[in-house]
Amino acid sequence: MNNNGYPPFRRFRRLRRTEGLRRMVRETVINPDDFIYPMFITAGTNVRREVPSMPGVFQVSVDQLPREMYELQSLGLSSVLLFGIPDHKDEIGSSGYAENGIIQQAVRAIKEIDDQIVVVTDVCNCEYTSHGHCGIMNGEEILNDETLDLLVKSAISHAAAGADVVAPSDMMDGRVGAIRQGLDQNGFINTPILSYAAKYASAFYGPFRDAAESVPSFGDRRSHQMDPANRREAFLEIEADLDEGADGIIIKPAMTYLDVVSGARERYDVPIAAYNVSGEYAMIKAAARNGWIDEQRVILETMTSIKRAGANLIISYHAKEVAAWLQGQQLSVEAFAD
Ligand code: PBG
Repeated sequence: MNNNGYPPFRRFRRLRRTEGLRRMVRETVINPDDFIYPMFITAGTNVRREVPSMPGVFQVSVDQLPREMYELQSLGLSSVLLFGIPDHKDEIGSSGYAENGIIQQAVRAIKEIDDQIVVVTDVCNCEYTSHGHCGIMNGEEILNDETLDLLVKSAISHAAAGADVVAPSDMMDGRVGAIRQGLDQNGFINTPILSYAAKYASAFYGPFRDAAESVPSFGDRRSHQMDPANRREAFLEIEADLDEGADGIIIKPAMTYLDVVSGARERYDVPIAAYNVSGEYAMIKAAARNGWIDEQRVILETMTSIKRAGANLIISYHAKEVAAWLQGQQLSVEAFAD
């Protein structure tokens, strides 16, 4: 037996001995098709402004989209999630559903560049309201049912502009059913809804709110986003969204909610996306810049863990660099500079 007389044991190391063997038994492999790349589209022209807390992530104006799409295509990435930063905000977020709003312009521009790119739009009001909240306010309270009207209008306007998928992220009750009905009544029966079904009231959204200029001017989002302490409640939220007609679901954030991803994968056979949010990105970038971690390995390990937990889609600001590494090249921002 040759084990120095110790009690019998299994030799797991046999299958870990060479890279070939490890590849052969690997359970989880990530590839560019797993990723959705989130983008911030801003009003104006010739804008390409790096978000200070998110190195490598830029707010870009619509005229920059050809170059952005070329870069994504060359990396083998084929889907984007769009957030808009309008030049005009008001109490009811009317620029969110304007026919010529920033997102509507961006969707049309991308579809003109390449209509094979899958364009997912974030449907929420917080980027478009002067107070930075996700809906219509009555004092400090967000009115649920009145807010649904705005969400329905936004979703229809995105679909009319050519969006392939709408993704409501507001966490109002009943919004998936309302949006489904609105889309169907307006001839968009084929537009899927990818709902942020389990979205937690998370401190990890901090850098995003800088990037999207959507910090609430008072209060927070705990009256509608989920309590980080709750897991079972996530499955009730997911079930309600599926009953109302969601085609797929998003769990957000990712790294600190992998138990929810894994539980959802066991229960539901729909596409599941996990959103690796801005704060998760910022932490890795900050540690890497300090030389405290091996950036590439930490990012690849993170992405693999999200997929291993059961997400078949990963929404991540790391998508470009990951795709580049998968192609065996180093992504340098300079490579794409003018
Ligand atoms: C709301 C929205 C948020 C994010 C995506 N959609 C912010 C919020 O709820 O305050 C966060 C994404 C991230 O942190 O990367 N429109």
